[in-house]
Amino acid sequence: MTTRYRVEYALKTHRRDQFIEWIKGLLAVPFVLYSQPTGVFETRSSSVAQMAAEAHRRYAEIMSDVEHMIDDHIEHQKVGTDGQSKLKLLVPSIGTFFTRLPLTDAFRYQDRKRFISSRRFVPPSFNDIRLILNTAQLMGVTSVGPLDLATFDGDVTLYDDGKSLEPINPVIDRIIYLMSRNTKIGIVTAAGYTKAERYYERLHGLLEAIKASDILTPAQRQNLVIMGGESNFLFTYSPDSPFLLSHLSRRSWILPSMSSWTQPTITALLDLAESSLRECVTNLSLPATILRKERAVGIIPSVPGSKFPRESLEETVLVVQKKLEMSEVGKKLPFCAFNGGNDVFVDIGDKSWGVLVCQNYFGAAGLNGDGESIRGERTLHVGDQFLSAGSNDFKARVVGTTAWIANPAETVELLDELKGMMEKGKEGAVKEEGDGLETDLLARVDRLFEKHPMPRA
Ligand code: IMP
Ligand code: MG
Repeated sequence: MTTRYRVEYALKTHRRDQFIEWIKGLLAVPFVLYSQPTGVFETRSSSVAQMAAEAHRRYAEIMSDVEHMIDDHIEHQKVGTDGQSKLKLLVPSIGTFFTRLPLTDAFRYQDRKRFISSRRFVPPSFNDIRLILNTAQLMGVTSVGPLDLATFDGDVTLYDDGKSLEPINPVIDRIIYLMSRNTKIGIVTAAGYTKAERYYERLHGLLEAIKASDILTPAQRQNLVIMGGESNFLFTYSPDSPFLLSHLSRRSWILPSMSSWTQPTITALLDLAESSLRECVTNLSLPATILRKERAVGIIPSVPGSKFPRESLEETVLVVQKKLEMSEVGKKLPFCAFNGGNDVFVDIGDKSWGVLVCQNYFGAAGLNGDGESIRGERTLHVGDQFLSAGSNDFKARVVGTTAWIANPAETVELLDELKGMMEKGKEGAVKEEGDGLETDLLARVDRLFEKHPMPRA
């Protein structure tokens, strides 16, 4: 039941994505004006088709307007005035765009898949728009060349929360396909373990499949790293090491600005986080155990299998985050406080650093060919946590393009979509510059439909 409380709760900004809500609001207008709920009484199928066609046209026009507004924002970005773009005025939380977002084409693609324009009672939803943005991002990334780096969150993105990547997981084939196309892979997870054995337990299906693969060259097999604890522990695939992983000492990969993360500061931040967590456990009477680690502190249920109320988890994250933000030490050191579904953790660093390290590792190691760090527009981070507070994938947005999925099945679908675009890109070979881009994308969407035919709305 949707109570008034729930409705108001859902209005809290930390549970909303301003950009998606704004687009949803824009699409709500043609939905109200052109959808025909009375159509259910009518038997003439032509009027239903007409309504869908009209709604489609109007929605597509709006997506095209938003696309142009993003283009304008990108122009402002280029000269450092993005704070003054029209989009920034309308959606103050808007961040950096690393590529164009061909929203009109992406809308057409998702409309054929989800029949958004054919709906008469349910307007374009948060999920519709999230998926359109994902498709647009894939189109944006693949239109400028191959994808150099794909990073993946673990829990909820590759496997169900708290579970492991088992050999039967369909995402394995998709990741191996990307590796076979020379895309580097980083698993950037909050799960913070110091030992290879624990990561092997969580990711054994993928590691064993890489070892057994007959489509990967030895060099391509080296293109997998695991970045654990957000940005704290780096492991690489290593066929001769126990558990197929080799731990890289921090000295060998930290970025220059990470050298200021000294032990006394780390201890001070974790001490403060721990005392704030204890306070929340007392105030909210949570049956929780505090877990202190080398680079993190968190609360987990005292009784395995028991569930914390969602509101208590969110309250805890917001309290701890505020306390840390307002502290001296919180200004010296990046940290990430987040709700892990049934736990709350505060980690040193965050996924923006985790992805940056992957970009630098593959670039600086010469694995990228030119010795330079992989760029944000050539990077895609896939994750499930993109709300502005209490979510850990959100931070990755500042260093690369992102796709927001809701469960592991969506990750598989997203990677199939990406594969379709990469394959077509390969066939399409020579791409035209400038205004050729638009036609190229459209043609690519159409070719995608030919390959995966979907009934037209
Ligand atoms: P992710 O979705 O792959 O980023 O993993 C998040 C989950 O990892 C959290 O919800 C925790 O259950 C688990 N986890 C295990 N160790 C840590 C840690 O040190 N920091 C944060 N999360 C951890
Ligand atoms: Mg996750």
